[in-house]
Amino acid sequence: MNSFKYKIHQYSKLDSTNDYALCNRDKLVYGDVVVADTQTNGHGRFNRKWVSSNQNNLYFTIVLGDIDNPQYLPLYTAVVLTRLLDSIGIQAKIKWPNDILIDNKKVAGILVQSVLQNGKNYVVVGIGMNLFLSAEEKLEIAVPVTFLENFVRDVNKNKLLEELLNTFFSGLETLNKEGFLSIKNEYQIKSSLIGEQITVKCSQKEFVGKVIGFSDNGEMLLMDENHTFTINSGEVVKIL
Ligand code: BTN
Repeated sequence: MNSFKYKIHQYSKLDSTNDYALCNRDKLVYGDVVVADTQTNGHGRFNRKWVSSNQNNLYFTIVLGDIDNPQYLPLYTAVVLTRLLDSIGIQAKIKWPNDILIDNKKVAGILVQSVLQNGKNYVVVGIGMNLFLSAEEKLEIAVPVTFLENFVRDVNKNKLLEELLNTFFSGLETLNKEGFLSIKNEYQIKSSLIGEQITVKCSQKEFVGKVIGFSDNGEMLLMDENHTFTINSGEVVKIL
């Protein structure tokens, strides 16, 4: 049970809830949540565009400020999203590090960003989730995408957000104390990649191998005939 009370700041239109939260860090504190009906400059990892013109969807950013173990937040937030989808009868998978997939199509994305100020970290977690996408919007997106209304009727956007935030805050203390180990088992069960032969791009290098699991720190463990690689960041570019 979560007893923490987060505070929602609702806007009809923002450039990006993440950018807003980063720019207004002097006014926002731990537990503030910036929500926008639409975004004009929604963006994701690798500075890719996040299509954000449809007010049926969820675009929001959780402000955490200076917290312990921020490196686990992308993986933790992915687990939280799958728990939420489980609770409405949808079995979602996580494509490392934090793409949320239903039937191998992306339904939600997570962008954790931080700035360092006066020796302190200010961390925000941005989440975009597709509840409904028109055919035109789907065409704008480069990867295969899906949306919740394909699977569950009458998804209540506000209720979903409330449940997501309660789940998020209720596990955060344990994450801060125990790190990735507090979610490792669940993350592995929900991973779409374990046992798959993949190519992952990490900085300028590409690694090819079979995913055998994740380390106690959330790094992906990849094995080829001769080596085991430990990959701490990057993008899966191919699944064979
Ligand atoms: C990704 O999959 O690359 C991450 C996408 C994150 C999109 C969300 S929408 C709310 C918040 N504001 C942004 O500009 N990005 C995140």
